[in-house]
Amino acid sequence: MTDSLLQISDHGPVRIITINRPDKLNALDAATLDALHAAFALAAGAIDVRVVVLTGAGPKAFVAGADIAQMTGLTPVQGRDFSLRGQRMMREVETMPKPVIAMINGFALGGGLELAMCCHLRFAADTAKVGQPEINLGLIPGFGGSQRLLRLAGRAATLELCLLGAPIDANRAHQLGIVNRVFPAAELQTRTLEIAAQLANSAPLALRGILDCVNFGGESSIEEGLSYESAQFGLMFATQDMREGTAAFLERRKPTFSGC
Ligand code: COA
Repeated sequence: MTDSLLQISDHGPVRIITINRPDKLNALDAATLDALHAAFALAAGAIDVRVVVLTGAGPKAFVAGADIAQMTGLTPVQGRDFSLRGQRMMREVETMPKPVIAMINGFALGGGLELAMCCHLRFAADTAKVGQPEINLGLIPGFGGSQRLLRLAGRAATLELCLLGAPIDANRAHQLGIVNRVFPAAELQTRTLEIAAQLANSAPLALRGILDCVNFGGESSIEEGLSYESAQFGLMFATQDMREGTAAFLERRKPTFSGC
């Protein structure tokens, strides 16, 4: 499936969403934000889709940021609305009930890193560069970067990336905990799809339970978070997949998970 802004293809239960503005290094304008919003809503509800991989078209960029040409003439109110529009879409990605992998094939700058940080796993090509360069435009991150980078990599890394504005390479991003894995560029897609296939064979309701615990329990007190985890853990005992997984272990065979 292709519209002009996104390419969407299914590889069995893995849906690949590719942002398709390579001539603008996949910069996020309002229309692309809206297209992503719709594509993720569709993927969330599609029963056959178990994992989503998000990437950028072309050899250079995942996403080189929010669209600077579109932002330059905005009024303060329009700027705030643009920020909210991006934040809403990205929160939808973050709270997806199925795993989302950012396959970072090149620059992930500004809104590009913010989008990648909403994904549940980040795999980067060794040629990729990430950063929050908004300061160079007289701006600050507006799609959640100041908050998510802080939670992901701590104050030191957040202040370094946001105050200095200089991109860092994939290996340093890995050292800082910003990306999960770094692969040679030529292997990025194969290795990402291998891990996506592994996730697609896992128990979907247990995956969802983990995502919910981290998303909704992780921002509360330890007592509330633990209580949320226990409730989710108990819920698993209502699933066929939990019976199947534990029975398969005891019978020394591979489980087959149905998502029920
Ligand atoms: N918004 C809008 N257009 C962008 C863009 C962005 N964030 N990033 C790149 N582009 C466009 C360029 O304007 C150029 O368009 P043109 O060919 O019509 O002039 C095209 O994409 C290619 O970019 P270019 O700058 O020529 O590529 P490069 O290889 O020389 O540099 C970058 C690559 C990523 C270093 C550079 O494009 C850049 O710094 N982009 C902005 C990054 C940024 O500040 N992001 C945060 C935005 S809040």
